[in-house]
Amino acid sequence: MTARAPLSAVFCDKRKFIVADTPGHEQYTRNMVTGASTADLAVILIDARKGVLIQTMRHSYLVSLLGIKKVVLAVNKMDLVDYSEEVFEKIRSDYLKFAEQLNFEEITAIPVSALKGDNMIGASEAMPWYKGPSVLEHLESVEIGTEDLSRPFRMPVQWVNRPNLDFRGFSGTIASGTIRVGDAIVEPASGQSSKVARIVTFDGDLEEAFKGQAVTLTLEDEIDISRGDILCATQDRPATADQFEAKIDWMSSNPMLPSRTYLLKLGTGTTAARISNLKYTVNVNTMEQMASKKLELNEIGVCNLSLDKAISIAPYAENPGPGSLILIDRFTNATEAAGMIEFALRRAENIHWQSVDIHKEARAEQKGQKASVLWFTGLSGSGKSTIANLVEKKLHALNKHTYLLDGDNVRHGLNKDLGFTDADRVENIRRVGETSKLMVDAGLITLVSFISPFRSERQMARGLLEEGEFLEVFVDTPLEICEARDIKGLYKKARAGEIKNFTGISSDYERPENAEIVIDGGRTSSEDAADQIIATLEMRGFI
Ligand code: ADX
Repeated sequence: MTARAPLSAVFCDKRKFIVADTPGHEQYTRNMVTGASTADLAVILIDARKGVLIQTMRHSYLVSLLGIKKVVLAVNKMDLVDYSEEVFEKIRSDYLKFAEQLNFEEITAIPVSALKGDNMIGASEAMPWYKGPSVLEHLESVEIGTEDLSRPFRMPVQWVNRPNLDFRGFSGTIASGTIRVGDAIVEPASGQSSKVARIVTFDGDLEEAFKGQAVTLTLEDEIDISRGDILCATQDRPATADQFEAKIDWMSSNPMLPSRTYLLKLGTGTTAARISNLKYTVNVNTMEQMASKKLELNEIGVCNLSLDKAISIAPYAENPGPGSLILIDRFTNATEAAGMIEFALRRAENIHWQSVDIHKEARAEQKGQKASVLWFTGLSGSGKSTIANLVEKKLHALNKHTYLLDGDNVRHGLNKDLGFTDADRVENIRRVGETSKLMVDAGLITLVSFISPFRSERQMARGLLEEGEFLEVFVDTPLEICEARDIKGLYKKARAGEIKNFTGISSDYERPENAEIVIDGGRTSSEDAADQIIATLEMRGFI
């Protein structure tokens, strides 16, 4: 496989190759995806004695998924099948038949034998029936990358270059197409357009630049462009959307959870993204599509992603550079997945934010308060709901306007379709986070009492609100005490194995690290805890 993800560079007379050798076992899927993601051509190796195997199909599927259009089918070990033309032809026709379902432009089958190098560099005496090129001859002459120049111009802006007030340029590497001085360009998300005034490079100004070149463009007009925006040809611009469909290769041992917010890195920009729907996973051995709720290590799935703002969406098939994405964990910064954009989803396009005249501040002011969320988190039986209930009573007595969202209650209605798997808890908290945001918009002091065991979703809920509106209240009661209380008898059942995924026993609770209020639930009475919270609300000017 030739790729820019280097394992080794090979220099020949006519071309320079970068070779990524990617073993095809299932556990290496992610190596293959990273290795092949920038490749121009894939060499798929077949053992002549074994023919087209499930492994060959998996390799081919992944190669087509990555948008590689040219394949060399190297049928190796021909010496062990007596250099038989019949064996080679059978493999070739089997493979062509199988590959009809894939999106390849060119498949070149070559019979080879590594033993003495037959058809590797030059012609083979042992296989006079084969009249085509050797592997090296083919690799040196095959046309690659030509389509990129005819593709529309795209350049993700890596940085805004402003050394002094007289110069303002946008620097980046051209991802596809060509650009000339005077060409009209647009930043599709904002619709701002201008014309190219200069194309500046380290070696001086150019009249014209191509895919792969690092350039700085200056424009005729002052337009507001920042890092991560994509400059595009005006006449052929990508869609902008805040939702799109993508194929994702999950590369982390933590499974992908729909609804969890990840950081999406696309081109040079980063935004928050959520997998709103996992449509199906693909069995890479058989290409079967299967319904699933999560993606595990090395699994490939087709999903919808939903972003917190509209951006330019370039399908990978049209433009592999800006069409490739990675998903990053917001806490560990680890790369969790790589993927390819399929297409923008239009459904978001026709829904606009309806602006209203009465806003949050007006509603809260009328109630004599500042709208906020008190987010109680802690184990089952920690005392969250008891304390939240007391706080609400005290606020009510102070003539404040409140609402209490309690896990057990919300799970009887809005969230009654959800259980206690990690995926369901993530969705549970997402919905409650959104609901609490509506309550805050209504001007209410909103109390939320959910175990909310994962840091990531508590952070997501915080992120939905404005700075200072969200107060995390950690009711820190040790597991032994919650279990000894066992008010609902659930710990006993969980220990007996009658309840699966029970928080603290068979499911994780990630302790808050920066909660605004921490209640020592083992030592503090509920009454004292409620007073402590009211005092904090007064101190912070909420009431
Ligand atoms: S969360 O983890 O998704 O935030 P939530 O607060 O909505 O949980 O619901 C927790 C309540 O559901 C607990 O107080 C308990 O009464 C009940 N429950 C039933 N099964 C479980 C379980 N497996 N783990 C935790 N709580 C459970």
